[in-house]
Amino acid sequence: MKRNQKDSSGVSMIRPGGKLMIWLILFISITYIIYTLKIVSTSRPCQYLTFSETILQQRPQKKAVAGEHEATDLNHVVFGIAASSKLWKKRKEYIKIWYKPKKMRGYVWLDKEVTDAGDQENLPPIRISGDTSSFPYANKKGSRSAIRLSRIISETLKHLDSDSRKSVRWFVMGDDDTVFVTDNLIRVLRKYDHGQMYYIGSLSESHLQNIFFSYGMAYGGGGFAISYPLAVALSKIQDRCIQRYPALYGSDDRIQACMAELGVPLTKEQGFHQYDVHGNLFGLLAAHPVTPFVSMHHLDVVEPIFPNMTRVRSIKKLTTPMKLDSAGVLQQSICYDKYKSWTVSVSWGYAVQVFRGSFSPREMEMPSRTFLNWYKKADYTAYAFNTRPVSRNPCQKPFVFYMSGAKFDKQLNTTVSEYTRHRVPHPACRWEMTNPGEINTIVVYKKPDPHLWDRSPRRNCCRVLQTKRNNTLWINVGVCRAGEVTEVK
Ligand SMILES: *[C@@H]1O[C@H](CO)[C@@H](O)[C@H](O)[C@H]1NC(C)=O
Ligand SMILES: *[C@@H]1O[C@H](CO)[C@@H](O)[C@H](O)[C@H]1NC(C)=O
Ligand SMILES: *[C@@H]1O[C@H](CO)[C@@H](O)[C@H](O)[C@H]1NC(C)=O
Repeated sequence: MKRNQKDSSGVSMIRPGGKLMIWLILFISITYIIYTLKIVSTSRPCQYLTFSETILQQRPQKKAVAGEHEATDLNHVVFGIAASSKLWKKRKEYIKIWYKPKKMRGYVWLDKEVTDAGDQENLPPIRISGDTSSFPYANKKGSRSAIRLSRIISETLKHLDSDSRKSVRWFVMGDDDTVFVTDNLIRVLRKYDHGQMYYIGSLSESHLQNIFFSYGMAYGGGGFAISYPLAVALSKIQDRCIQRYPALYGSDDRIQACMAELGVPLTKEQGFHQYDVHGNLFGLLAAHPVTPFVSMHHLDVVEPIFPNMTRVRSIKKLTTPMKLDSAGVLQQSICYDKYKSWTVSVSWGYAVQVFRGSFSPREMEMPSRTFLNWYKKADYTAYAFNTRPVSRNPCQKPFVFYMSGAKFDKQLNTTVSEYTRHRVPHPACRWEMTNPGEINTIVVYKKPDPHLWDRSPRRNCCRVLQTKRNNTLWINVGVCRAGEVTEVK
């Protein structure tokens, strides 16, 4: 009443409007009452109908395919490997490390036929990319092949027969120098509904690269996954989309441009590694984030991950722990030897570090700066994540033990991995504590934990086992017990 009076005392022109409002409110209320009582089902206002129709149309088409509800596995994935005839002879060795023709499906996309196809049975079949000479390419630094490589998913989709189409849930792209840990790739993909549109991958380590390209782009070398419905949507627009971005550099930024047109953002998964760095990956591999290790890239650019070995052999070496406990590979755990006052950091299946004195977990979780940035400079502001400076104190130089062997011990019902000291000169140290230099070998016991990533993410705990032997250290790694935390005592 009061408001009405105020209205009427105001501008007179409002009055007929006010009356109309009352009628409108009355009408809406009655319509609503009728609607909620479901007396007249057809009297729904039309926007309700269109709204629900829209929802129905957007819902993914549920096909009645056998095994629709089974968990995603390797047989639901098709790999698309971006390669070139020029580097094929060398790069195929990386693919052979992880690709299993009997268990996996995929194609290598080349610019032209290669002659030395002798060991082809251990590799994915080769496909030659379609002609892209009609597409514009205007980037002065890049190469036209970017267009060809950006069309791999669309071309793969075109090549699939109808049976394959029914079973494919994910398209996974990688370069010829990308190595996947496929068990962990599957663990990541299982988190997502393949019936929806997903674009999953990760960024570059380099802040500048992310600025030049995009913080919303899946870097092609680290590899990325596109769900089937998104691949279909992409293939419908891609050739038109590519025409609009002649100035872009590569294939992954072209994909991202089309994703932006589709409105599908990047779902970031930190286990895909572009590794846009130089030098020694050690710091990154010794302090991996608490997430499954999915891929690694630029293996020709960085030093071999195990010293005194070829690049290919050093990656092959990592496949032993991958087979024993893929979920746990390269996972970090941190513990202390309280009698000797040492800090121990395990990167399971790869390396163990022993430090004199106590470092907190928040320090040890940061990758140490063993690597250079993408422009070959030691500049920690170059990264989009925290790094730990290499300590200047001669006593704090870590003693590094690289994995030298791993097996499953049936009697102990656990994995046993052995780490041997990397013999490098250590500066003199005057601290009055046991010198970790007297240790030659570290033995780590760890039960395989295939369901590690089915639980909420948590770093494993490690415990230094006390023994009388001076030159060997025994460590147990596993799920933290109730109340167990990593604290310096
Ligand atoms: C490097 O490897 C070679 C051959 O495997 C071996 O003879 C040599 O001792 C190794 N060097 C170091 C420093 O480990
Ligand atoms: C071995 O350990 C696993 C758990 O890691 C357990 O499920 C299994 O029963 C054990 N097997 C034997 C023979 O003790
Ligand atoms: C172990 O170290 C202690 C103290 O440093 C030393 O007395 C002992 O002889 C060493 N034992 C062996 C087997 O080397």
